[in-house]
Amino acid sequence: MEIIKATILDLSALRKLELECFGKDAWPLFDLIAVLTFAEVIRIKAIEDGQMVGFIAGDPHPRDGWGWISTLAVDPRYQRRGIGRALLHACESKLGVPKSRLTVRISNQGAISMYEKYGYKTKDIWHAYYNDGEDAMLMEKNL
Ligand SMILES: CC(C)(COP(=O)(O)OP(=O)(O)OC[C@H]1O[C@@H](n2cnc3c(N)ncnc32)[C@H](O)[C@@H]1OP(=O)(O)O)[C@@H](O)C(=O)NCCC(=O)NCCS
Repeated sequence: MEIIKATILDLSALRKLELECFGKDAWPLFDLIAVLTFAEVIRIKAIEDGQMVGFIAGDPHPRDGWGWISTLAVDPRYQRRGIGRALLHACESKLGVPKSRLTVRISNQGAISMYEKYGYKTKDIWHAYYNDGEDAMLMEKNL
């Protein structure tokens, strides 16, 4: 497995990955273009078998002292092989801020287990944060 910077050339692979991992929550095309091009964004992909099997993006807010993990996805066929962990650690190490934050659906027990395992703590519940009314957990880690 290779962990390297993603670029706009990854747009169609990222779109496919997002649809496979998030279905109705997949980001629209504009957001995918933004995450692959905005200057300040950290964007990292995992490559295996010659294809993109995972992606993470981070958004540093140095003046606030924290950064957001804005998306993390691993191809279902490649999950539970340490790719999510490797992407998370790579992105955290590049954020350059003291704290990392993210939101996750309260029903997404798999992702919550992973975040807790790697040091994230629940800071708040944001009610009806998602379009379908589901609550989000705001999680934070001291880097
Ligand atoms: C969440 C996600 C990124 C995890 O990626 P992954 O590559 O499977 O994770 P890893 O293999 O690195 O898992 C590391 C550890 O996290 C925990 N973990 C990961 N997925 C888990 C699951 N579904 N259930 C319980 N624990 C889980 C485990 O402790 C795991 O270690 P182990 O496999 O040795 O038990 C992946 O399941 C995914 O893309 N899900 C769909 C999209 C999503 O929900 N993204 C997060 C949105 S906030």
